Amino acid sequence: MDRRKILVTSALPYVNAGIHLGYMVEALQTDFWVRFQRLRGHDVRYFCGDDTHGAATMLRAEREGRAPEALLDEMKADHVRDLNAFGVVHDHYSSTHTPANEALVGEVWAALRAADCVDEREVAQLYDPEAGMFLADRFVLGGCPRCGATEQYGDNCAECGATYEPSELVDPKSAITGAVPEERSHVHLFVRLEPFHDFLETWTQAPGRMPQETANWLKGTFLADALRDWDISRPAPYFGFEIPDAPGNYFYVWLDAPIGYIAATKEWCDANGESLDDWWRNPDCEIHHFIGKDIAYFHTLFWPAMLKTAGFQLPESVHVHGFLTVNGEKMSKRTGTAVLARTYLDHLSPEYLRYYYASKLSTKVDDIDLNLEEFVQKVNADLVGKVVNLASRTARFVKGEALPAYPTARDGGLFAAGAAAGEEIAAAFEARDTNKAMRLIMALADRANEFVEAQAPWTLKKDESKRDELVEVCAIALNLFRQITVYLAPVLPRFAEESAKLLGIEGETTWSDATVPVEGNVVGKFKHLMERADGEKVEAMLEASRAGWEASEAEAAAAAGAGEALDEEPLEAEITIDDFVKVDLRVAEILEAKSVPKANKLLELTLSLGGNERRTVFAGIKKAYDPEQLVGRLTVLVANLAPRKMKFGVSEGMVLAAGPGDGDLFILSPDSGAKPGQRIR
Ligand code: MSP
Ligand code: ZN
Repeated sequence: MDRRKILVTSALPYVNAGIHLGYMVEALQTDFWVRFQRLRGHDVRYFCGDDTHGAATMLRAEREGRAPEALLDEMKADHVRDLNAFGVVHDHYSSTHTPANEALVGEVWAALRAADCVDEREVAQLYDPEAGMFLADRFVLGGCPRCGATEQYGDNCAECGATYEPSELVDPKSAITGAVPEERSHVHLFVRLEPFHDFLETWTQAPGRMPQETANWLKGTFLADALRDWDISRPAPYFGFEIPDAPGNYFYVWLDAPIGYIAATKEWCDANGESLDDWWRNPDCEIHHFIGKDIAYFHTLFWPAMLKTAGFQLPESVHVHGFLTVNGEKMSKRTGTAVLARTYLDHLSPEYLRYYYASKLSTKVDDIDLNLEEFVQKVNADLVGKVVNLASRTARFVKGEALPAYPTARDGGLFAAGAAAGEEIAAAFEARDTNKAMRLIMALADRANEFVEAQAPWTLKKDESKRDELVEVCAIALNLFRQITVYLAPVLPRFAEESAKLLGIEGETTWSDATVPVEGNVVGKFKHLMERADGEKVEAMLEASRAGWEASEAEAAAAAGAGEALDEEPLEAEITIDDFVKVDLRVAEILEAKSVPKANKLLELTLSLGGNERRTVFAGIKKAYDPEQLVGRLTVLVANLAPRKMKFGVSEGMVLAAGPGDGDLFILSPDSGAKPGQRIR
């Protein structure tokens, strides 16, 4: 077999969110495939990184009062930690905000200019007059121009899949401030795609390039007409790379994001003495992208056009998967089904999810459902009931003994049949039809279990004269077990490793290990290889997930508002009296309270500190109080907090309140007799 040189990527997760079980579908599907190719002996590299640019990053960093780079570092560390905990290991995990990426983006851009496919023209874009900025696609909400679905983002419709410009939305509003956006004109840069029409037609429709459904969709939706020009610039302010020959304009995040695949490779090459051209300008290197169906058009139209223009190798294959639903519904924060990877890991073993996803994923682009009842049942029935069972029922009878020469004559052809199934299982993995691979493997486990049942080693054990027979039966069962764990290794690497240890097997596992029985190895002590999945833990995970989203929303409200939603958590830090006296707490009288129309949680308070001293404070207490209730009351103000500029104005201090947040908040008041302006000590 020829050793293939393979470069694999998963889509770069947005830096602004934690890794969740939806992204895990993709990361795990990729990881299964990468590990499978490695077991087959191929030369594989797996690259990924965070997708960092765009208005969302800029706004969040601003809100949190820190440099975007600090945010990026923290999020990347979290992403890598979670992915690794699930057993997803990249050769390099980078970021799109790197010098390597900026240089490569410059190279691709120069090539696009040189190929004369860049146009300039004025475009009217939506502008948020309250936020003082043009609105990125994701910051405009409105009705889909094609199907009329409401609350759709400005770039594409989640209901019907239409893609469009934000200005085409029906009744648009700014997702930042809720303001009705105005149209303003600005010069944008466009990449003309129509010159690539024939090339893209041929490339996308090549057999095996992508799932047939995706190829058909491209042909019917995009390639049927002239391809539209692609708007690749965004006016400042924007977090991204400034366009070298168009100052004041930045590359649209989707231009630099996929180039991040190349940049991650470049960084890895530089660190490992390899040459980038061996991977990205080498017809003998196969490039495979794993992506979700929502981003297929970026990867199958713009991306190949850019690669071709800049003289990079085109992807061999774009593997497209569907979306994850949980218990048949779209993931939801409210019900807790939008489970973060971290939350899952706090409650359940990563191997359960790895197996469950493997058993669900196929070559289809259909959505896959995480049905939590089925999840528990499948893990217990298949992994614990069928696979672990083979070892747990036999290993103990031969603990500390060397396995005999494999008793081929006794096993009814089972080992040979298992070895012969290897190529069919491999073909299923290769086609990323892990559903089929898991079915084939479980069929082997079923037959092995039937053998153990029929031979009943526990009965043989009782008869000293049947000692040799017992050892042979156990050797067969353990070898069938080993064969199965080799086939499962792409999906359950840790389990495969532990199983190898049980049988005293050292060194790297390879696919062909499944064809060679283990002989002479001393059997170790059987340790629990996998616990049963527990439905109560699944419930606890959902509950923690729901509570987690609630808490983070309260936090976001506090950050967006005035920060009054205090946590119930005890404060960790001990402070000295000197620290405490730095806080200037004053009695304040609420002179005026009014609701901020476009904010869900904010009231605007006008406070008196005695005399003529007035303060304006935005407090996140709209859900807890009617503004009228507050007028005339005394409360406690942090008077020397640095003023904070918010969307609705400047907040000059903070009002103290107790409670978990939202409707459950209670502002603090002094006893009667206290006067506005008095210092609290
Ligand atoms: N940053 C872009 C990708 C840039 S690639 C050059 C992006 N990020 S994402 O975080 O929104 O999604 C990353 C990948 O996860 C995408 O392939 C997307 O399809 C996939 N998924 C995100 N949510 C998902 C589900 N609920 N289910 C399955 N996959 C999902 O898009
Ligand atoms: Zn629509």
